Amino acid sequence: MQLLLTINNEIKSFDIAPNETLLRVLRRNGYFGVKHGCENGECGACAVLLDKKPVASCVMLAAQAEGKNITTIEAMGEVEEQGWRKTEGLHPLQKAFVEFGAIQCGYCTPAMILAAQALLEKTSHPTEAQVRDALSGVLCRCTGYLKPVQAVLYAVGDQGSGIGSGIPVPIENFQPREELPPSDFPLSDPRSLISTLPKMIVAPAVPEMTVVGKPEKKVDAVKLVQGNPAFADDIEMRGMLYAKVLWSPVAHARIKHIDATKARALEGVHAVLTHKDIPRVVYSTAGQSDPIPGPLDMFSLDTKVRFVGDRVAFVAAESEEIAERALELIEVEYDELPAILDPRDAMKPDAPRLHDEPEYVPFGECDPQKNIAAKIEFELGNVEEGFKKSDFVFEDEYIVPKVQQASIEPHIVVTYWDEDDRLVIRTSTQVPFHARRILAPVLNLPPKRIRVIKPRIGGGFGGKQEVLTEDVAAHLTIATGRPVRFEYTREEEFIAARSRHPMRVRVKTGVMKDGAMIANEMYALSDTGAYGCHALTVTGNTGQKCMGLYNAPNIKFHAHVVYTNTPSSGAFRGYGVPQGFFPLEVHMEKIARALNLDPLQFRLMNAVKVGDELPTSKAWSEGRAPHPEIIETCGLPECVEQGARAIGWKRDNRQQTTDDRWRVVPGKSHLRRGQGVACVMQGTAIPYLDMGGASIKINDDGSFNLLVGATDLGTGSDTVLAQLAAEILGCPIDDILVYSSDTDFTPFDKGAYASSTTYISGGAVVKAAEQVAEQIKKVAARMLNEEGEKQKAESEKRNTQYNIRAEELILRGKKVFAPDGRFVTLAQVALNSLHHTDQHQIMAVASFVSPKSPPPFAAQFAQVLVDTVTGQITVEKLVMAVDSGVIVNPATASGQIEGGMTQALGYAVCEEMLYDAKGDSVIRQLGDYKIFAADEMPELQTIFVETFEPSHPFGLKAVAEIPLDGVAPAVANAVYDAVGLWMDEIPMTPERVWRRLHENKNKNK
Ligand code: FES
Ligand code: FES
Repeated sequence: MQLLLTINNEIKSFDIAPNETLLRVLRRNGYFGVKHGCENGECGACAVLLDKKPVASCVMLAAQAEGKNITTIEAMGEVEEQGWRKTEGLHPLQKAFVEFGAIQCGYCTPAMILAAQALLEKTSHPTEAQVRDALSGVLCRCTGYLKPVQAVLYAVGDQGSGIGSGIPVPIENFQPREELPPSDFPLSDPRSLISTLPKMIVAPAVPEMTVVGKPEKKVDAVKLVQGNPAFADDIEMRGMLYAKVLWSPVAHARIKHIDATKARALEGVHAVLTHKDIPRVVYSTAGQSDPIPGPLDMFSLDTKVRFVGDRVAFVAAESEEIAERALELIEVEYDELPAILDPRDAMKPDAPRLHDEPEYVPFGECDPQKNIAAKIEFELGNVEEGFKKSDFVFEDEYIVPKVQQASIEPHIVVTYWDEDDRLVIRTSTQVPFHARRILAPVLNLPPKRIRVIKPRIGGGFGGKQEVLTEDVAAHLTIATGRPVRFEYTREEEFIAARSRHPMRVRVKTGVMKDGAMIANEMYALSDTGAYGCHALTVTGNTGQKCMGLYNAPNIKFHAHVVYTNTPSSGAFRGYGVPQGFFPLEVHMEKIARALNLDPLQFRLMNAVKVGDELPTSKAWSEGRAPHPEIIETCGLPECVEQGARAIGWKRDNRQQTTDDRWRVVPGKSHLRRGQGVACVMQGTAIPYLDMGGASIKINDDGSFNLLVGATDLGTGSDTVLAQLAAEILGCPIDDILVYSSDTDFTPFDKGAYASSTTYISGGAVVKAAEQVAEQIKKVAARMLNEEGEKQKAESEKRNTQYNIRAEELILRGKKVFAPDGRFVTLAQVALNSLHHTDQHQIMAVASFVSPKSPPPFAAQFAQVLVDTVTGQITVEKLVMAVDSGVIVNPATASGQIEGGMTQALGYAVCEEMLYDAKGDSVIRQLGDYKIFAADEMPELQTIFVETFEPSHPFGLKAVAEIPLDGVAPAVANAVYDAVGLWMDEIPMTPERVWRRLHENKNKNK
């Protein structure tokens, strides 16, 4: 049917299907700033303004918008100079989002800006609460909302505090929180959230730099605030087909019979593929370096299904609706098998076996006959002897749940044959190079006939370190010869994508009376679900990172990672470490309480220190030979000190505070307040394995192209890499044009995981930039000497130094300076080398692999309010003081901490994937799953305690994963502090807390 719609004040005619949503029609017609994140109005990514009010375009028929004025982000503003055409520039809200670092992946950004704009239509000077309320309809999985809220408040101008005028001013003009008047309790004035930068404690060893260490704007921010077509799905292909997958309705079965005849006969269907139609190639979906450290136990389509949501058949059709109808026409007969839903059952001798396929390729100590995907064990010293020598031994079991990455952009891929019959895979992936390597045998194509393009990614958090959707679209492109688009619905994200490994963890610790730790043992029973993706490495990391923090003479970690008939676990930011630190740090708190030790001092006295050998580095390294490592930087004591000060730490077990008024809320005796702490550690990349490459070339205006295979998931890594290059090349970050990543054009990089991009890919960028700088200096020295010769010829009297050596030149401010102050510009050097003399391209390629994995450290503090009647925990404030080495960009790095703490808060109090007795997912939508919205957030504070890590030229360590590690134990310890209740299982939902409170009451009766 024909429909007239008014979009951004233009009336346009569209040919639409009567049931088409407004979202579909807008995107189909090139309004790519409107994003898809779900299908039921819960994420807000699809927001547009309808007569100035925000609406979810995914739940509205296009026809319902007739006669209304639709505003999309495309109408808000654009870059000021578009060649000869001048524009009004970006809207103040867009500018503020850019200036304040309010963007990470940017997938939610257009919707946030529109939501803020709608608020401003109603009130010109909103309060922070109003801003949070307005943004609460748009879920963001990256930022923790602090910077978006700051950006909106700033953009509108705050008459009260005198900050802001609607025209953004440089970020440096804002006071960091530390300079605000101190406040004890109640929590500080909400206006104090108007701070942009974290508190920085700078170590004396950190040199002053020009670009590094500065809160530079993200290099991709301007395109993201405009909603430019930057993501995998923002592309129109002629003749595109739409893929759908038939998912298994049963948890464990053999496919007895499958018949796709009727589906194939449906008009508009171009291909239906079952296990009979494609090659049977065993592989692993885990995007890891070769050889993948885990079993090969999966097929694109198999004769057996192993969980509700496993793949049964693929369809490609001219529309999603036709593809869905075709799925209904596929006839399948299942021969059901007993299912294992509890990992404890998987290890029973008579347990049904999930993997009996002859093609199964084991790795390490996996044993599919016993449903064991991986077995891990290492011991330093002798823990049993250690327990005997200890004055006290504490032992307990803890449970951590299965949770989802829930990036707002779902998995999305578009595949097509190019003009050279090469298969192009445009995909939202964290691992483009691993994806190409893994897919080649599965598709029966040599890697050289596959090109993987990674555009911007709308969040990944490990979920896109998996090759999950690419083979589906690729098989269908091979079958049909047509471009194919395949995107998970939100429900499919919950039933078929990966998640964090749930675990049952036992911790046993022997200590002396003074708190000295003698022996520390952890056992983890980890559930990998139906396939063993990341089984060994995630759970090994649980032991390697968590058990490395405390330097007991006797340490043991052992684990079984077992198959169950549930959706597969996989990589999730933190990669096994949050699962270990919840048990460990609650356990430490119990010991400190039981022995009446100061919880901070108890932790610090046992924690590793500078000069120590990292104990677990001697024992384990991702299933490969371990590489013992000395700790060269550790800011943990300062982190503890700073964090305690920031939260207003009230506790010292030895000197109980007499004034407990802070614990109560006047007139509400059922509310109790408490504070908790956790210390944590992560790693920085995988030593002797992770490799990143970078290439840099100069352009004839003196700008540079930086090509990296590294994968910016929204973390800001492209920006940070550009800063490193700009620092060395003596230019502003705007002159570094970053392109990432494309397996045809960018150098290899292992991808974005293991907190390694800044360190590993950054190492490659530094090496390439240094080589380019050397080449520039050579040309500049020749130019300056030639100029000197000329001057000499003109005037014999001038006292000019003619023999300048390249090594003595300095690159700064887009110029190359000689010691005598003479200079040539980078543009002159580029023009000279490209066009005039001794012509050549100044360029370099370099790669970096690290022999070390220097750990970042952090202290995490939480303050909570517990409702003893309902069991509701309200987290009032989270503080994280972290030693991540030198911070390249305080704005993007603090954004990582804020967003990470927010994800970790969900892990602590509300996120959990639940299954019924048949293994069917109970949680299928974001609304059921529950991630934090802007109006539900606690106060967040980040403090960076800088150290200069000598293993990296710029002194860096990782920042991205560590914020996931300490929130849950800090909150649990705060709950104990408030109400005397040990929560040994997360998430600490009101129901779970309420039950435990009542168990306690009944016990005490
Ligand atoms: S609310 Fe419309 S895409 Fe999620
Ligand atoms: S920046 Fe909000 S979802 Fe990524």
